[in-house]
Amino acid sequence: MDSPGSVSLTFAAVQRAGEVVAATLPATPLVAHPVLDRTVGRTILVKHEHVLPTGSFKVRGGVHLGATLTETERRVGLVTTSTGNHAQSVAFAARAAGVQATIVMPRCAPEVKRDAVEALGAQVIVHGDGLGEAAAYARSLAVDGGYVDPTDPRIILGHATAYLELFTAVPALGALYVPIGSGTGAAGACVVRDALAPDCAVIGVQSSSAPAGWRSWRSGRIETAAATTRASGLATTSGYPATLATLRAGLADFVLVSDDEIDAAARLLATRAGTLAEGAGAAALAGLIAQVQAPSGGPGSDRPVAVVCTGANASADEIARLAGSVAAA
Ligand SMILES: Cc1ncc(COP(=O)(O)O)c(C=O)c1O
Repeated sequence: MDSPGSVSLTFAAVQRAGEVVAATLPATPLVAHPVLDRTVGRTILVKHEHVLPTGSFKVRGGVHLGATLTETERRVGLVTTSTGNHAQSVAFAARAAGVQATIVMPRCAPEVKRDAVEALGAQVIVHGDGLGEAAAYARSLAVDGGYVDPTDPRIILGHATAYLELFTAVPALGALYVPIGSGTGAAGACVVRDALAPDCAVIGVQSSSAPAGWRSWRSGRIETAAATTRASGLATTSGYPATLATLRAGLADFVLVSDDEIDAAARLLATRAGTLAEGAGAAALAGLIAQVQAPSGGPGSDRPVAVVCTGANASADEIARLAGSVAAA
């Protein structure tokens, strides 16, 4: 491939990405957990993305990226920035492609994720308090063309393959809840939903302690906000130009949940669905619960809904809080 900029976000491109990703990664389970349904009061299917290598859906983006690297990227190596799951994804793909990877991670990135990135053979540089500072530094390091933007269209197409699997298996969903940091997963979900399940409402979920994406979605402009959330996968400090228009056109709703609601959802996944999720991985369920408890009851209450459990890489603090008796740090 000559230019990643020539890739566009279409359903046909998602289908092609699906073939690429399926050559490396298994389809993830879509599972009903009746006791979770009884607890929440809704018929729920959980898309278990956390079982993938690297423990999150982000590896789909890395696998697709790795199959579509430019000559320049292969030559100079890859530089990117992430709080951890995109980092592992790029490290995973770079190792498979025999390419050097350097990942700039902000200080708020959990130790478990830094360790995992290093174990995949990438160089980790810790820089900046948040993603914005880390990204600026990563760009400055990658002067000769190896910077991998976390919202690169090749990555969004890879992430969209989760929803190709989901909507191919169950086109009659009433609603799908997707956690949002930069919005790559949710944008991919909207593209696939438009083609395969136009009646399904896609609902974004973000932490109220990192609401930049939500603010941007509401205003239609790129907004910034502090990210103090404990859910590292959702700790974005800005909206993202690559996903904003797709999210504005495609999301039926975008809900904010508190970090405590995310913790409560993570506990339900652990105790009612046998699933260890990191905070970002539990956020979709938190969003569903918030809507079920709201007066409207949320969209699609007459049909099954899906939540995507996007990640397993819980920090030591997150695991401690699963017991429910440990105060938040
Ligand atoms: C586990 C997990 N869930 C959700 C997200 C948010 O995904 P996106 O940045 O594509 O919106 C991330 C981002 O890193 C993540 O790691």
